[in-house]
Amino acid sequence: MIRVVFNQKGGVGKSTISTNLAAQSAIAGQRTLLVDLDAQGNSTHYAGVNISDDTLTVSDLFKQVAGWFSSPRPPADFVQATPFNNLFVLPSHPGLADIERELESRYKMFKLKEALHTLADEFDQIVIDTPPNFNFYSKAALIAADRFIIPFDCDDFSIQAIGRLLDNVMELKEDHNRELTLEGVVINQFNSQARLPASLVAELRAQQLPVLEPYLSSSVKVKESHSAQTPLPFYAGSHKVAKQIAALYSGLEQT
Ligand SMILES: Nc1ncnc2c1ncn2[C@@H]1O[C@H](COP(=O)(O)OP(=O)(O)OP(=O)(O)O)[C@@H](O)[C@H]1O
Ligand SMILES: [Mg+2]
Repeated sequence: MIRVVFNQKGGVGKSTISTNLAAQSAIAGQRTLLVDLDAQGNSTHYAGVNISDDTLTVSDLFKQVAGWFSSPRPPADFVQATPFNNLFVLPSHPGLADIERELESRYKMFKLKEALHTLADEFDQIVIDTPPNFNFYSKAALIAADRFIIPFDCDDFSIQAIGRLLDNVMELKEDHNRELTLEGVVINQFNSQARLPASLVAELRAQQLPVLEPYLSSSVKVKESHSAQTPLPFYAGSHKVAKQIAALYSGLEQT
């Protein structure tokens, strides 16, 4: 099963949520692959992987599918182990931005789906982190995925962004991936003491959007786990936000 985490708005929690859901899946005994399609490489880093000049990355995989390498390798060669049991990463590379236009002009958007379907035999779950743009890479991810979730950061601009996001994704679904299912909106950095977050979530529900529970609280532990390059379920499994992630994951797996 391939799940994509996407919102074109920056800083809403895509990398945090995709990495932690992948980590939770690994803890649940699922052989899990985290695919990092954002040139910033935040989820690669968070999952404990540091790339070197020799590391094969998702950028190399795209170059290969575009026919830039003379001797192709199996997609599994691009997968890197993490320090965590059952968790693997298809790492990002800063060079993703440089090859985007070339890949787009050569219509390579469907190639990620082919590569991930080859890998789907080797992994129980694949989670894709996306860049904060509706660009070549996020479109390739939405075409490759079975399900998608939208992180929402309880900001007023996010409400405006979500309508545009749904229009974009629904058009892509109609044209290229009719099987794609919206699992729901993950509420991130929810502050139950403040009035605005609750009213924004109420607005999402009023728009008939599937709002997932539990909401994820804001915590400095999340930031600490980033700098420790250790996803929260491994870093502090009994912490409140780790428990929220575990419950969110269980809910997603029941549907
Ligand atoms: N639940 C949380 N509690 C505290 N901090 C959080 C939480 N979720 C995300 N953050 C922080 O918010 C920032 C943005 O999170 P993240 O990088 O996951 O968002 P993103 O959507 O992937 O961003 P980008 O669009 O740049 O890729 C980070 O500094 C992260 O540590
Ligand atoms: Mg990110």
